[in-house]
Amino acid sequence: MPTPPYLLEETRTCPMVLGSREENRQEEVKRVIQTNTKKMNVPFSKPAFNEQEVEAASKAIRSGWVTTGPLTAKFEEEFAKFVGSKYAVFVNSGTSALRLAIEWNKTKYNLKTAYVPSLTFAATAHEAIHAGLDVLWGDVDQETMCLLPSDVGNIAIPVHLTGNRASVAYSCPVVEDSAHLVEKDQCKGSKNLVCFSFYATKNLSTGEGGMIACNTKEAYTWLMKARHHGIDRRPGGSPIYDVEFIGWKANQSDILAAIGLVQLKKLPSMLKKRAKIVDMYNKGLGQHCCGLHLYPVFSNDRDEFVKEMAKAGIQCSIHFRPLHKMMAYSSTRDLVTTEYLGGGLVSLPLFPDMTIEQVKYVIETIKKINLTLPL
Ligand SMILES: Cc1ncc(COP(=O)(O)O)c(C=O)c1O
Repeated sequence: MPTPPYLLEETRTCPMVLGSREENRQEEVKRVIQTNTKKMNVPFSKPAFNEQEVEAASKAIRSGWVTTGPLTAKFEEEFAKFVGSKYAVFVNSGTSALRLAIEWNKTKYNLKTAYVPSLTFAATAHEAIHAGLDVLWGDVDQETMCLLPSDVGNIAIPVHLTGNRASVAYSCPVVEDSAHLVEKDQCKGSKNLVCFSFYATKNLSTGEGGMIACNTKEAYTWLMKARHHGIDRRPGGSPIYDVEFIGWKANQSDILAAIGLVQLKKLPSMLKKRAKIVDMYNKGLGQHCCGLHLYPVFSNDRDEFVKEMAKAGIQCSIHFRPLHKMMAYSSTRDLVTTEYLGGGLVSLPLFPDMTIEQVKYVIETIKKINLTLPL
């Protein structure tokens, strides 16, 4: 009679018989990767660019107009239509988008402090500091991993982390860090400035870039000047201009706007592909994530997990170590959930052109490595 599998399992992991549990696990991972599964190389991310982007960028270059111009205006108009805002301002990064959005609020309100999550990319907090505000760190909700609302700051900067929707219910002004979320109609009726990133790995990419969506003409007019030194151009194309206030240099190029226009057309299908991969990960790993930008898993032994994944040819990323504990901030504040999650989160490969075989391979490898806990 064949040995029942549970007995085999027992023998395999018994330290007295076959060495330590860790050695056995490592041997098992090696064996399975070498024998059962064909090793694959799975990058963490890959831009979903093809000949369409190449052609659009080339056309922009050939036109002779390579800085901010008509394609930028068109991209802004189309992007605003997609997210359901009245206006959109194309800038050179998500970081610049945050900075200008905070600065706009400074012209309206007496801001001294910004309430921000620590479980985020550095830019969220840095831009508040650069704008002269003191950062008040907030903890996150264990399930959404997004900032828990509080009334402590003069302005709140919730982050839609991994693509999960953060609460925007605050009594103070809100700037939304939407670097990870870009969805149809998400800005419809919003009174917040919403900041997007078009960095290489983002859901919509122009290589580098960002966008601020807003619903008031007043904010829009200010932002258009703010991104270009505070310069106020006279109507009618007159070469005479004035500098209305001390602005920034954050405008964008028509070459990247051309790429953005192609990406925007593809966005619904790219989001669908991401959703399918997230669904496969959820089913395979027994999780319930819904963000479409990053797919997180949690490991108590993150370094080892990432190392084992790399050995199997899978590139993972560590995005969110608690920012408030980093050298530049060295805060003594305790943020229980942030510190727990930030100590073990790993992002799995996730990009529109990822194949079903690659997703299956990642899932199988994670199960074999056996170093993750359910999120
Ligand atoms: C949450 C978050 N906010 C802001 C940014 C900054 O965006 P960018 O790299 O376009 O400046 C990023 C970039 O990865 C991010 O992940």
